[in-house]
Amino acid sequence: MENMLVTGGCGFIGSNFIRYLLEESDFSGRVVNVDKLTYAGNPENLSGIENDSPGRYIFIRADIGDQDIMAHLYNDYEIDSICHFAAESHVDRSIVKPDAFIQTNIVGTFSLLELARANQERLQRFHHISTDEVFGSLGTEGFFTEETAYQPNSPYSASKAGSDHLVRAYYKTYGLPITISNCSNNYGPYQFPEKLIPLMILNALEGKPLPVYGDGRHVRDWLYVRDHCSGIWRVMKHGKIGETYNMGGSNEMENIKVVEMICDILDEFQIAADKSSRRDLITFVRDRPGHDRRYAMDFTKLRRTLDWRPEESFESGLRKTIRWYLEHREWVDRVKGGEYQSWIKEQYGRP
Ligand code: NAD
Ligand code: TYD
Repeated sequence: MENMLVTGGCGFIGSNFIRYLLEESDFSGRVVNVDKLTYAGNPENLSGIENDSPGRYIFIRADIGDQDIMAHLYNDYEIDSICHFAAESHVDRSIVKPDAFIQTNIVGTFSLLELARANQERLQRFHHISTDEVFGSLGTEGFFTEETAYQPNSPYSASKAGSDHLVRAYYKTYGLPITISNCSNNYGPYQFPEKLIPLMILNALEGKPLPVYGDGRHVRDWLYVRDHCSGIWRVMKHGKIGETYNMGGSNEMENIKVVEMICDILDEFQIAADKSSRRDLITFVRDRPGHDRRYAMDFTKLRRTLDWRPEESFESGLRKTIRWYLEHREWVDRVKGGEYQSWIKEQYGRP
């Protein structure tokens, strides 16, 4: 793999992956990052990368569904591998307005697959990034495996499930050299503050209410983003063509517990102006419709066959993440100055 097309590389996981690839991994080639720069895309997430990795990073602003631009850049840069992150990624937004989820996640992925099929001779790998949410919801016991039947419950997860099926079908039907990874909830630097962890960190710092949906007993399996990135690269390099791999953090946690931990770490790092406990800000709000109760990943296949396991514990990863948000106030202020305000206002009726 010498010329890798990364889609959605200005988003949260994509930007962490490009940094990992160019700064930490044994990848020696060039990355061509194609990103439409929706509200979630931020080129600042990759500031400095061109200088730090001269000649190895190219950014092109484009929609993955734009067939003309994509065909040109595919040939111009002699693309030989694809890592596909680009997606609409927020469940709450998919409930309010699913349109872009269908367009980018399903139609956009289809368009990318067609491009790959038309240029298959050079293609070594088409890696598709997906989520544990395609499997639906677990009860109090058990784990999702690669054999679990798909049962998506939100427009977001249904659109990701659709894209997974298309990717797999292109392997079965056309022999496209695909792999898929389904990962649990990520957290870490550069995450847009609409998702649980950065939203709670920033609200708590500003003394705003911390909105916990329903009874707060929903469970997610948290994975530090760098661990996800190392897993993706492992699968791209060594994963078997046509296979899917689950990734998780072995960090099952109820949402209320996550929020309490954030409050306690923030109180330790930076005492609130009025010396109050940030836990006092926790506010239970109306539940999300169709809210999946529990996700938990069995990643035995990836551990056994490719020797991957997460390095970060939830406590250590959360501390790093909170410190990062405290030390990157300018990034935070710029992100919050944009479209974020109107989303929060629409959700909670206040800025
Ligand atoms: P994100 O919303 O932070 O970033 C998505 C990126 O895709 C943005 O930079 C955006 O501008 C870009 N994009 C959107 N539509 C595009 C289009 N039509 N053409 C080109 N670029 C487009 O998302 P994320 O959290 O980084 O997630 C990345 C991928 O990982 C997604 O496929 C998501 O489903 C998957 N995933 C996310 C998580 C998680 O916890 N965040 C967990 C498992 C899997
Ligand atoms: P989120 O970060 O949106 O990820 P996902 O829905 O993809 O799992 O939400 C994580 C969990 O936190 C989920 O159970 C919903 C809950 N949640 C809240 O309780 N309050 C919030 O403000 C947000 C954004 C999420």
